[in-house]
Amino acid sequence: MVGTCQPNGTVVIVDDTDVSADVLRRHLVADGYDVKVAYDGASGLETVRQSSPDLVLLDVMMPGMNGFEVCRRLKADPVTRLTPVVLVTTLDTADDRIEGTEAGADDFLTKPIDVRQLRARVRALLSVKHFTDDLDSAEEVILNLARTIEARDPSTVGHCERLATYATAIGVELALSPAELRVLHRGAFLHDVGKIAIPDAILLKPGRLTADEFEIMKRHTTVGELLCADFRALRSVRPIVRHHHEHLNGSGYPDGLVGAEIPLLPRIVGVVDVFDALTMPRPYKSALSSVAALECLRDEATRGLHDPTLVGILIALHESGQLERPTASTPRLPANPAGVLR
Ligand SMILES: [Fe+2]
Repeated sequence: MVGTCQPNGTVVIVDDTDVSADVLRRHLVADGYDVKVAYDGASGLETVRQSSPDLVLLDVMMPGMNGFEVCRRLKADPVTRLTPVVLVTTLDTADDRIEGTEAGADDFLTKPIDVRQLRARVRALLSVKHFTDDLDSAEEVILNLARTIEARDPSTVGHCERLATYATAIGVELALSPAELRVLHRGAFLHDVGKIAIPDAILLKPGRLTADEFEIMKRHTTVGELLCADFRALRSVRPIVRHHHEHLNGSGYPDGLVGAEIPLLPRIVGVVDVFDALTMPRPYKSALSSVAALECLRDEATRGLHDPTLVGILIALHESGQLERPTASTPRLPANPAGVLR
C-alpha cells in the first residue's frame, strides 16, 4: 500500500500486549504511516506528548492506567484534545461504548481487528485531523494578529494574556461551563484585534484623542467583529469583541446597549479591561495600584457603568490573592476612570 493515495501521518499505538500492538503496527507501517508504540498508559501519554501524532490507537484493558483514563487525559489537555483517539477493545458492551464516548473517544475498534475496518477508520480520522489542523492554523493566525497589535504599543504588552486570565478567573467564580470559559478566554485574548485597522497616529497618541480620533478608535470593536466572523472557530467570540466597551447605562459603544442587552461575557471582559488599563501605565496616563484601580471600578459601577456583581467578584479575587497583581505605582485617581479606555 506504500505509495498509494493514503495520507501520511503519525500514529501512536498504546497496547500492553506486544503481539496485538505488533499486528496493528505492521498494517499501519505497510500503509505508509509513521508508527510509535507504547506498552502502558503512562508511557503512551508521554509518547503522544513527544510525537504529536495524527491519531492514537488505544487499548482499553491495560494494567495501571487503562485506556479510558488515558483517553480522558488526552481530551482534557488543550494540546491533544483535537487528536483523534480510537479505543481498541475486546469489550463490546453498551456500557463500554458509553464510558469510551464519555472519555472523549472518537471511534472504536473491536478485537480481533478487521484490517479493512482499521484502514477505513484510520484514513477517515486522519482526514478530519488534517482539516482541524487547518482550522487551528487559521485560528493561530488571528491569535498572532492580536499579539502583533499588542506589540505595536509597548505600553500594552501582556494585556491580552492578563485579560484572558482575569476574565477566566471571574468566569470560574460564576461557575460558567467549560465551553463558556473557553469562549471567554479566547474572546478576552482577542478583544482588541480590530485595532489592526487603527492608525499609529491615533493608537499611540500620547495625549487625549480628539472627538474625530475617538470616533475612529471606536471602530476597533466593529472591525474586530468582522475579522472574527470569517473564522468559524471564532464566531462565538464576536459578541465579546464587539461589545467589550458597552456600559450598563448605555453610555458605551459601538451600540449603546443598556443593562441586560449586554451579554455576560462582554460585560466580564469590559470590567477586566478597565482594571488592566488602570493598573498599567499608558502613553497618556500613569498606572494605579490594584487597590486604587478596584476603587475606581467600584465607583464606576455605582455610577451605572459596570456590573457591580462582576466588580465585586474581581475585588474578592484580589483580596483572596487569586488575582495576579500587576506592578503597582502611583495611586493617583484619574478624573475620569472610564476615559482610560479607548
Ligand atoms: Fe477595546
